[in-house]
Amino acid sequence: MRIDILSVVPQLLESPFNHSIIKRARAKNIVEIYVHDIREFSASRHKQVDDYQYGGNSGMVLMIQPIYDAILHLKSQREYDSIIYTSPDGELLTQKKSNYLSVQTNIIILCGHYKGIDHRIREHLITEEISIGDYVLSGGELAAAVITDSIVRLLPGAISDETSALSDSFQDDLLAAPVYTRPAEFNGWSVPEILLSGNFKKIEQWQMEQSLIRTAKLRPNLLSDKSADE
Ligand code: ADE
Repeated sequence: MRIDILSVVPQLLESPFNHSIIKRARAKNIVEIYVHDIREFSASRHKQVDDYQYGGNSGMVLMIQPIYDAILHLKSQREYDSIIYTSPDGELLTQKKSNYLSVQTNIIILCGHYKGIDHRIREHLITEEISIGDYVLSGGELAAAVITDSIVRLLPGAISDETSALSDSFQDDLLAAPVYTRPAEFNGWSVPEILLSGNFKKIEQWQMEQSLIRTAKLRPNLLSDKSADE
């Protein structure tokens, strides 16, 4: 899989893809990630990328030309399955959406900034708009990092224990069961007995019960959404 990210602040994305699971997935060629500076595509002498908005409201808007040229440049080299724009008014990112994106081959993620981007880009070039939550970030870079991370960890081989991505919270619309490691007792707080029993069938049953209990308590909407799906 290949992910191309377009940003006016590419420095914000220097770290998230160079550690841990994503770093290893890149080293193993499971994913290629490229962060492009939109400014490099600006045709203006001063590499301008934003401008005042028509209509007189305050706040700068990312200009159409540099983004248009950046996307066309990428599209001239390969076909893209999705061209995503990160925005608080997009569709909320869910595990289902990440699963869907993780089976694609080439993706562009365009990071929004300031007051937004010239709307003609959204109308004519963007195929999906994604929000990572109902709050406003200063820019789309952190959202692009979140989207990328949630996709990459699903790619075959990205996580060494294959079953571990499948047992994540949300993977079957349930929160994950609690996990523990040694020591079995600390400060008088003990690990649930069942986990030390060696009875894997019983342990699995306990984990499923815990998932259901935690989901019903913390995110009951997941259970009602699930029965509505069925
Ligand atoms: N840009 C600003 N806020 C955002 C959000 N919540 N999700 C995605 N992109 C954003």
